[in-house]
Amino acid sequence: MKKLWLPLLFAVWLSAVGGSGSKNKRPNIVFVLADDYGFNDIGYHGEQIFTPVLDKLASDGVKLENYYVQPICTPTRSQLMTGRYQIHTGLQHYVLLPEQANGLPLDDPTMADKMKEAGYATHMVGKWHLGFYKKEYLPFNRGFDSYFGYLVGEETYYGHKRDYTDGNWYLDLRDQNGPVHSEEGHYSGHLFTEKAIDVVQAHDPRKPLFLYLAYQSVHGPLQVPEKYERQYRHIQDENRRIYAGMVSAMDEGVGNLTQALKDKGLWDNTVLVFSTDNGGTPKGGGNNFPLRGWKGSLWEGGIHGVGFVSGGRVPLKGTVNRELIHVSDWFPTLVGLAQGSLNGTKPLDGVDQWGTISRGTPSKRTVLLHNIDPLARTLGVPLYNDTFDTTVRAAVRVGHMKLITGEPYNGSWVPPPGSAHKFEPEPNTFPDKNVWLFNITADPTEHHDLSDQMPGTVRTLLGYLQRFNQHAVPAVYPPLDKNSNPALRGGVWGPWQ
Ligand SMILES: *[C@@H]1O[C@H](CO)[C@@H](O)[C@H](O)[C@H]1NC(C)=O
Ligand SMILES: *[C@@H]1O[C@H](CO)[C@@H](O)[C@H](O)[C@H]1NC(C)=O
Ligand SMILES: *[C@@H]1O[C@H](CO)[C@@H](O)[C@H](O)[C@H]1NC(C)=O
Ligand SMILES: *[C@@H]1O[C@H](CO)[C@@H](O)[C@H](O)[C@H]1NC(C)=O
Ligand SMILES: *[C@@H]1O[C@H](CO)[C@@H](O)[C@H](O)[C@H]1NC(C)=O
Repeated sequence: MKKLWLPLLFAVWLSAVGGSGSKNKRPNIVFVLADDYGFNDIGYHGEQIFTPVLDKLASDGVKLENYYVQPICTPTRSQLMTGRYQIHTGLQHYVLLPEQANGLPLDDPTMADKMKEAGYATHMVGKWHLGFYKKEYLPFNRGFDSYFGYLVGEETYYGHKRDYTDGNWYLDLRDQNGPVHSEEGHYSGHLFTEKAIDVVQAHDPRKPLFLYLAYQSVHGPLQVPEKYERQYRHIQDENRRIYAGMVSAMDEGVGNLTQALKDKGLWDNTVLVFSTDNGGTPKGGGNNFPLRGWKGSLWEGGIHGVGFVSGGRVPLKGTVNRELIHVSDWFPTLVGLAQGSLNGTKPLDGVDQWGTISRGTPSKRTVLLHNIDPLARTLGVPLYNDTFDTTVRAAVRVGHMKLITGEPYNGSWVPPPGSAHKFEPEPNTFPDKNVWLFNITADPTEHHDLSDQMPGTVRTLLGYLQRFNQHAVPAVYPPLDKNSNPALRGGVWGPWQ
């Protein structure tokens, strides 16, 4: 009797502290964010670029086919880290420029803060782009135990440099101990993969792991080791060919990382999310066909993103999820999975989507504010005087319907160079047109503007924008600060206040 009792007690204790075999054991969470990765540029959406690793991970897990991000970098990253719309953080307008004294507000706890509070080991590798003018804004002061990566955006892949407004290039690569000068010539697709693998290998498995790998790939400049480009010799267009190679390098990197998780014995208890930050940019080789428009726009090509969930802890294998999910939803979804607390957060705009991802239940979201940008150029004249001003750049989704107001940017349909599909220019409309309405479910490529046919629906959706706008905070977009010049601090981008 006594002999049996002890091991039993030990087993009970093990499951209580989350030892192996426990159903309630909290999963490791790995979030891989690609940069400027187009909707058409993953193997299972397109026909030109090979992504065997991403395809396999996605088909072993849940493909998110009604998944939305923001049209550009900082906005998506801010919503991922806080679960809150930009109208609530002041980051409605454009991206953080490296010379601006601005950042993700410090009173918004990040996903990493919440994971750390819940007892996770928290690590970040790659692109931050959420502010750095004061030390308090750096990733290791925003919940990450460790950080290796860059703070700004648009650097070179080998030199890890970014230009200042005077045209000089300065190093933007660091870890929590300071600038890293030793990686010149190390392609970031390899470097960041290796650093993420170092995190996995050094991880103490008694703690759950939260790893955020924000690749530089596949943002411009177009740079990749020749061997990745070589397999795309058949693509004539040089930008597209190099870009395709960059995607392949990233695909290989994700393969290496998942192998490391398997080798370490972590994969079976891991939830891996893969997401783009926004649509691709055709000038930079990316492509979102058949969607309309591209990065930066409020058309679907800017915001309808590539995303999937994989890993041993995803119960639904090989499914396609068509429920409305947004990048702000990851905050409550993943903090919930970590059994963390939402105490101390401000009201969230994201909703917990683990139900739809793990069991296929309906999305908890029917309304999605794409953005309201009070500082963008206005367009035309207001349609109505008693509701949301249609000259303002904004978009909202309510159920099937999407309303765009103001200046949405170029809305052509651009197929990848060399494909059999035809380029379609934007339809000719009167120049000051500033309202569009689409049924995205019926018309995901936004060919049939319903705004004239359905004025009642236009008014209803303007009412949504009006109500959102009533509790928006002012947009923060300060002038460039000369003190940000890295020449004043050893030629390295970093905090200056
Ligand atoms: C993946 O691992 C292989 C084998 O170690 C290596 O040759 C390759 O460069 C790695 N790729 C990336 C993107 O890190
Ligand atoms: C969250 O706050 C409530 C109310 O203050 C408190 O009772 C609860 O213990 C807190 N939970 C955590 C996990 O901190
Ligand atoms: C809006 O108000 C202006 C000025 O009061 C008026 O001239 C205009 O006709 C109104 N427009 C509509 C659509 O009611
Ligand atoms: C929109 O983009 C397409 C493709 O680059 C280009 O041909 C077209 O001229 C642009 N339209 C406008 C109005 O700028
Ligand atoms: C939008 O399209 C879907 C799918 O075709 C349809 O079920 C729905 O009724 C449409 N909604 C409206 C408001 O037209």
